[in-house]
Amino acid sequence: MIKKVLVINGPNLNMLGKRPKEHYGSLTLNDINELMIKEADNKLELEFYQSNSEGDIVTKIQESLNLDAIIINPGAYTHTSVAIHDALEMFTGEIVEVHLSDVDNREDFRKINFIRSVATKTFSGKKEYSYLDAIKYLKDMK
Ligand code: DQA
Repeated sequence: MIKKVLVINGPNLNMLGKRPKEHYGSLTLNDINELMIKEADNKLELEFYQSNSEGDIVTKIQESLNLDAIIINPGAYTHTSVAIHDALEMFTGEIVEVHLSDVDNREDFRKINFIRSVATKTFSGKKEYSYLDAIKYLKDMK
């Protein structure tokens, strides 16, 4: 049963609300976190972490290997980070990759994805609903 979940957001996701709305919607990260808490309905224990630094995200994953699940939107590091891939590879729980935008149908450079192969599930292209789908997915897991 999934209980303790770490939600990681990578670079520039602290700026949601100011980023192009056609891709990322109009909510702030705080708005999205509050929606996730509501959706979790006390069935999941959520911890939120945001960083603009690759190394800090790697360290946070290393410190969280005992948790049940990680929901991660690595932002631009999705397309560049072998280091985040390698850190996630050590995690034995569920890894849910999330994107607000439809990364597979944008610029070619966003089709390169270092995270997909270590994720157990991906939700993308549904703006804030991608995160809420991730919560539902983990909540329904027996
Ligand atoms: C993103 C997509 C990435 O390509 C981009 O660099 C981001 C956000 C998304 O949520 O759609 O910062 O991960």
